[in-house]
Amino acid sequence: MIPIDLSGKVALVAGVGDDRGFAWHISKALNAAGARIVLATHPRLCNVVTNILERDLDKESRQLPFGAGELKVEKVIPCDVEHDTMDDVDEKKREDKRFAKHGDYSIQGLANTVGKEFGAVDILIHSIAFSPEIKNKAIDTSRKAYLQALSISSYSLTAMLKAMQPLMENRPDGASAIALSYLGGDRVVPHYGGGMSTAKAALQIDAKQLASNLGPKNIRVNIISAGPYASRAASAIGDIDEMVRHAASCSPLPRGVTAQEVGNTAAFLCSPLAAAITGHVLYVDCGYNVMGIFPKD
Ligand SMILES: NC(=O)c1ccc[n+]([C@@H]2O[C@H](COP(=O)([O-])OP(=O)(O)OC[C@H]3O[C@@H](n4cnc5c(N)ncnc54)[C@H](O)[C@@H]3O)[C@@H](O)[C@H]2O)c1
Repeated sequence: MIPIDLSGKVALVAGVGDDRGFAWHISKALNAAGARIVLATHPRLCNVVTNILERDLDKESRQLPFGAGELKVEKVIPCDVEHDTMDDVDEKKREDKRFAKHGDYSIQGLANTVGKEFGAVDILIHSIAFSPEIKNKAIDTSRKAYLQALSISSYSLTAMLKAMQPLMENRPDGASAIALSYLGGDRVVPHYGGGMSTAKAALQIDAKQLASNLGPKNIRVNIISAGPYASRAASAIGDIDEMVRHAASCSPLPRGVTAQEVGNTAAFLCSPLAAAITGHVLYVDCGYNVMGIFPKD
């Protein structure tokens, strides 16, 4: 039997906002493989996530796959990936009590805390996307929303790797970063507007550039391009249930992808089994991406 053993590895997972999204299930898969889990969560969602990690009501959600026990998270660190340092934060947000109570919630603040408390990062997960105009067609997207979508959903991977590089370079088994993308970054998907399709295309080429930049430090960078799944963020698109139904009816494997399958893929990509895989976009979508003409839906 080939084991996936991530015992003792520090996994920094950015993008857990509830117990539905991909980041939650990736955290569970990595924890089931033995990794120590540290979460970087949007400042406004830290309480929600802490509750899910502690409440009896959510015990079921915390059960790990493969009968590996219950999810244990060592720390939840507030981080708004729109800001490299606190100098970037505008006055309005600075004065917003919901943010201010967290102190330093920038990417550099995150790196400082993780460095001080954990000393190293073996695994970095970027499972974050946002556009304030996701429901707008590309033609109706404002410059402001377009740039914000790119800042939060794409550049943040570069910014996080830049800040974490000293903690990730030359780790004993190498380090691994994964970001989440979607087919809407390769092809036209109706309703995937507001700059999000551009953000995913940028994220994918950025991951390849970063894989090349960081390979000599033994840091691998890969993308999981997941099939449609009804997370909180995806529900903001509006017709996610229809997208899931369509993908399920047209994919070579005629069903929707599960979040646990995405988590399992992340565990594989972070493991020594994937030691020579970097700069890759791996589709975890039941094969939907290979289709040219769809059967009558
Ligand atoms: N759900 C899908 O159908 C689907 C398919 C393919 C790829 N993806 C990608 O998977 C990733 C995770 O999305 P999900 O579907 O699990 O939804 P989700 O809502 O669980 O995750 C999105 C996360 O991004 C976080 N976020 C947004 N702006 C942020 C900011 N400024 N700073 C810090 N965090 C911020 C949110 O708090 C949330 O936790 C995203 O990159 C998404 O584009 C989703």
